[in-house]
Amino acid sequence: MTAVNSVSTIKTIEWTSEGVALIDQRLLPLKEEYKICRNYEEVAEAIRTMVVRGAPAIGVAAAMGIALGVQQSKAKTAEMLRSEFDRICDTLAATRPTAVNLYWAIGRMRDLFEKLLSEGAPIEAIPTRLQEQAQRILDEDIEANKAMGHYGAALVPDGKTVMTICNAGALATAGYGTALGVIRSAICEGKNVNVIALETRPFLQGARLTAWELQKDGIPTTLITDNMAGHFLHAGGIGCVVVGADRIAANGDVANKIGTYSVAVLAKENGVPFYVAAPLSTLDLNIPSGEKIPIEQRAASEVTQIQGVEIAPRGIAVNNPAFDVTPHEYITAIVTERGIARPPYEDTLRRLKNLAC
Ligand code: MRU
Repeated sequence: MTAVNSVSTIKTIEWTSEGVALIDQRLLPLKEEYKICRNYEEVAEAIRTMVVRGAPAIGVAAAMGIALGVQQSKAKTAEMLRSEFDRICDTLAATRPTAVNLYWAIGRMRDLFEKLLSEGAPIEAIPTRLQEQAQRILDEDIEANKAMGHYGAALVPDGKTVMTICNAGALATAGYGTALGVIRSAICEGKNVNVIALETRPFLQGARLTAWELQKDGIPTTLITDNMAGHFLHAGGIGCVVVGADRIAANGDVANKIGTYSVAVLAKENGVPFYVAAPLSTLDLNIPSGEKIPIEQRAASEVTQIQGVEIAPRGIAVNNPAFDVTPHEYITAIVTERGIARPPYEDTLRRLKNLAC
């Protein structure tokens, strides 16, 4: 058996001299290849087409895309640079609507850009400062994941199985992972943990990505199809469910990968704690409840085909929402980098968000 390596070494996103390097998640687990995005349009396309996916990872990728776009700008004046900056941000913001980390990261880049202009910084100094900011966002994400791991590990019972859906691991973040970071930390602390990964139709993030990254680290993992979740939650032996999030409303409702809501209901029905692990950049206090979270609709072909092979009759009507919303009453606790929030989330999440870093 492979030795357990609870500290993931996967590099999801990297700034290189040639551009932004992204591990191509569409090819995993069959091929481990990096795609170099040489301009901001290519970064936007990579986010849209799922070369890179996962809420924190697309935020980091967008920040690097902005830095790349500004670095390649030919603008001679601050005004010209601002209009180019706006175009770059708008292009990146239009890629995927649900994960709020994308807008959060763009907002951080914009705040620095405006600060530099208002201070009268020479425009040739701006690209380096933006690149440093993008790198900071990446580094902070890894730190946040490790902190969530530290807090969340205490919730994971020793000697039990943890169920997870989608991929909330190193691949969905700058590294280490949110939900999978909690599992990694629990193992690091010496707990004996097995994982059940749901395959996550239609895009198969669980089968292709979670199974790959946990197996790579020697973490004992069993893959099941999504419709087996109830069977295993009822059978016993599952200590908790841990998932990531794409957007958390002020009242604690959580948008995450389609299928999460069903697992949360099944967990509650069977008395299994249901935990969400997400950085505070995923918390959207402007949205009072989950009803207002925009849900991305993706192509019908993701449902009618598996890896390019047709599995449904031509012309069948398809609905393909990429995310669902789990109402807060199904969530036992939300693990953040500043501690664990428990109900009433309206108070506890706001308090954590406003805590000094
Ligand atoms: O469509 P995806 O693959 O981008 O969806 C990702 C998820 O739903 C993850 O669970 C979520 O982003 C949390 S990742 C740390």
